[in-house]
Amino acid sequence: MSENSIPAPGRIEPLRIAIAGLGTVGAGVIRLLNTNHDLIAARAGRPIEVVAVCARDRTQQRSVDITPFAWEDDMSALASRPDIDVMVELVGGSDGPALAASRAALSSGKGLVTANKAMIAHHGLALAELAEAGGVPLKFEAAVAGGIPVVKGLREGTSANALTKVYGILNGTCNYILSEMEETGADFAETLAEAQKLGYAEADPTFDIEGIDAAHKLSILAAIGFGARVDFGSVRTTGIVQVRAADIAQADALGFVIRLIAQADVEGEGADARLLQRVRPCLVAKDHPLAPVYGPTNAVVAEGNFSGRLLFQGAGAGDGPTASAVVADLIDIARTHGKSGEVGAPFSMPAAQLAALGPAEPGHRMERTYIRFTVNDRPGVLAEITAAMRDADVSIESLIQQGRANEGTEVLVAMVTHEGPERCVRQALDLLEGSDSLTGEPLVMPILPN
Ligand code: NDP
Ligand code: HSE
Repeated sequence: MSENSIPAPGRIEPLRIAIAGLGTVGAGVIRLLNTNHDLIAARAGRPIEVVAVCARDRTQQRSVDITPFAWEDDMSALASRPDIDVMVELVGGSDGPALAASRAALSSGKGLVTANKAMIAHHGLALAELAEAGGVPLKFEAAVAGGIPVVKGLREGTSANALTKVYGILNGTCNYILSEMEETGADFAETLAEAQKLGYAEADPTFDIEGIDAAHKLSILAAIGFGARVDFGSVRTTGIVQVRAADIAQADALGFVIRLIAQADVEGEGADARLLQRVRPCLVAKDHPLAPVYGPTNAVVAEGNFSGRLLFQGAGAGDGPTASAVVADLIDIARTHGKSGEVGAPFSMPAAQLAALGPAEPGHRMERTYIRFTVNDRPGVLAEITAAMRDADVSIESLIQQGRANEGTEVLVAMVTHEGPERCVRQALDLLEGSDSLTGEPLVMPILPN
C-alpha cells in the first residue's frame, strides 16, 4: 500500500481505488458503492472512493455516471497511479492487459481485488508471490461463485478442518441453461442467448458451456480447501454441449435432474497424496441438496472432518451479487489498511508452503453411471452395445431404447449401470469406438452419490 494510505492522527483517509472494466461487474461495483456509501464507510471505518477508471471505449454510454472519475486509456497506467491504494480488475482474460495491469499494481505497492477466475487459475500463485513480496493484499472473492462468500468461508470458516471433498455448481450460465431446459423445454441455443443477455456468460461463452469456467473456479477452491498449489491444468473437464432435451427427460423419469458438477478431493496421504479435480454433467437425485439449485444460482458443498457437510448457496453471477463480493474484499482491505495477517496469504497459507499435489487417476473409483448412445436403428445394435458392456465387466441396471423421433433412422439408447469401477465403463466405450452402429459420441454422466 502507498504510505499515504495510513491515516494521519485524527484524519480519516478514504481507501482510494481505481476500477479497470466498466461492464456488467464494473458498473455494478460503482452502483453498489454509490447506493450503500454510508453503510460501507461505517463498516470499513473509512469511505471507499473511486479515483479513476478505465475501459476499452471511452465514448461508450455507461449505465452509471463515470464523470466524477479520472479516465485512463491504459490499464497498466491506471494500476500504477500514485493517487490510488487498490486496483480493482474487472476486465477478464487470463493473460493480456488484465494480467499486465495486475502485475503492475502489485509491483507498485497497490492492493489488487479481482473477479478474474481465469487469471487466478492460471497465474494465482505467481501473483500471490508478488503480493507477498510487496506486503500488499490480493483478494478474489468474486472469482468463485459470484456473490457467495465461499473463498472466505473455506479459508476462514473451515480452517480448523481437514476437508475430505469440495464440490458443487460453479457456473451460473450452465445451471441456468440446464434448469431452463428442464422447466420450459426450451432448446440449448435459445437459453444460452438469454444467459448472455442477462450478463451471466463469459465474453467467450464456450468457457461456460465447455466447463472451463467451472474448472477455473474449482482449481481455486481446491487450492484453498486443500492447501495446494492451483493446478488448473489437471482438471478433467466435460461441458454440457452434448446434453440433449431427451437426456433431461430420461433423467427426470429416473428421478434425477442434470447439473454441471465440479468436484475435488484428495486421496492418499503425505508424499502419496493426490488431488482429483473434475467438472462434468452429473445426474443428481431429486432429494440431493444440489437438485433444487435453479437458474444462475451456485452452490458449494464442503465436507470437513469436524464440521460435517456445509452448504454455501447463492447467486453465482450477475452484476449485483458479483459487486457485493468485490466490495466486501475492498471493505476488508479498508478496515486493515492493507496490513492484516491475510496480506500475502491469498490461498490458505503462504505460497511457498502450498503442497504440489500430483493429479489422481480415477479409474478405480466406484460409481453408477448414465450412458446414452445415439445409434442406427437396425438389428444387432443393442446386442453389440451389451456385449461391450459384458466384455468390460459393466453390469447394467436398466436400459431404455426410445423410438425414432423423426424420419431418420437414429434412435437413442440410454442405460444406467450398477456401481462399478470407472475404468470398466471407459473400456466398454473403447470397445465400441469406431463402430458404425453409433451415430455420435456416447454421453457418460455419473450419478452423484447422495
Ligand atoms: P464485461 O464484458 O461486461 O466487461 C468487461 C469490461 O472490460 C468492459 O467495460 C470493457 O470495456 C473492459 N475492457 C475490455 N478489454 C479492455 C482493455 N484492454 N482495457 C481496458 N478495459 C477493457 O465483463 P464482466 O463485467 O461480465 O466480467 C468482468 C470480470 O468479472 C471477468 O473476469 C469475469 O470473468 C468476472 N466475473 C463476471 C461475472 C458476471 O456475472 N458477469 C461474475 C463473476 C466474475 P468496454 O466496456 O469499453 O468494452
Ligand atoms: N460466466 C460465469 C457463470 C460468471 O456463468 O457462472 C460468474 O463467474
